[in-house]
Amino acid sequence: MTNQSPIPNLSIIVAIAQNNAIGRDNDLIWHISEDLKRFKALTSGHAVIMGRNTWNSLPRRPLPRRRNIVLTHDACFSDDGAEVAYSVAQVLEMVKDEEVSFVMGGANVYSQFLPFARSLYVTWVWRDFEADVFFPTIDMSVFYKVSETEHFVDAESGLPYSYAEYQRRPQSLVFPNIME
Ligand SMILES: NC(=O)c1ccc[n+]([C@@H]2O[C@H](COP(=O)([O-])OP(=O)(O)OC[C@H]3O[C@@H](n4cnc5c(N)ncnc54)[C@H](OP(=O)(O)O)[C@@H]3O)[C@@H](O)[C@H]2O)c1
Repeated sequence: MTNQSPIPNLSIIVAIAQNNAIGRDNDLIWHISEDLKRFKALTSGHAVIMGRNTWNSLPRRPLPRRRNIVLTHDACFSDDGAEVAYSVAQVLEMVKDEEVSFVMGGANVYSQFLPFARSLYVTWVWRDFEADVFFPTIDMSVFYKVSETEHFVDAESGLPYSYAEYQRRPQSLVFPNIME
């Protein structure tokens, strides 16, 4: 796939702490049930793209009513409900006819797909957390914020959070070549 080929409509969906933390010990650091409901509402009916670590971390897999695309380098890997991909280029080809597909992590996969994402659905969790995986800083010369909600407070954990949506700026709609 080259710059001349159409890049599929990819969105990143992620929950990020204010220090950019997104996970620890191959798990999420917080539990915000309203955010999980929103994740389900946004992604249902679409393809979700994830790395093998995130696949392994799911309490229930595959995620129902979604194409579950799992990236790995392991040619022996297979699992019920997982469509296996071995490169970013292969994923882009697999989802080229989808209306929209969601990159759902983890850190390794987010950083590889960020250059191809047209939009970002971010849940900001307004606390710092100790973590071992982080989301890259969002480059505001590439993306702009379309909307951000008020701050909500999770009833169970007391964590403040908000939802923000970012779109790629029109002048940044030139995507890298895929050399894989
Ligand atoms: N806060 C959030 O919204 C959120 C969302 C999702 C995940 N997370 C967190 O993120 C953490 C997991 O992230 P992670 O960075 O450790 O792992 P990851 O991105 O989920 O998976 C990485 C693995 O994916 C495979 N992979 C990645 N790029 C590939 C490529 N180009 N070609 C082939 N295979 C590729 C490799 O698997 P092999 O080793 O099998 O080759 C690699 O080791 C967990 O803590 C999880 O809870 C947070």
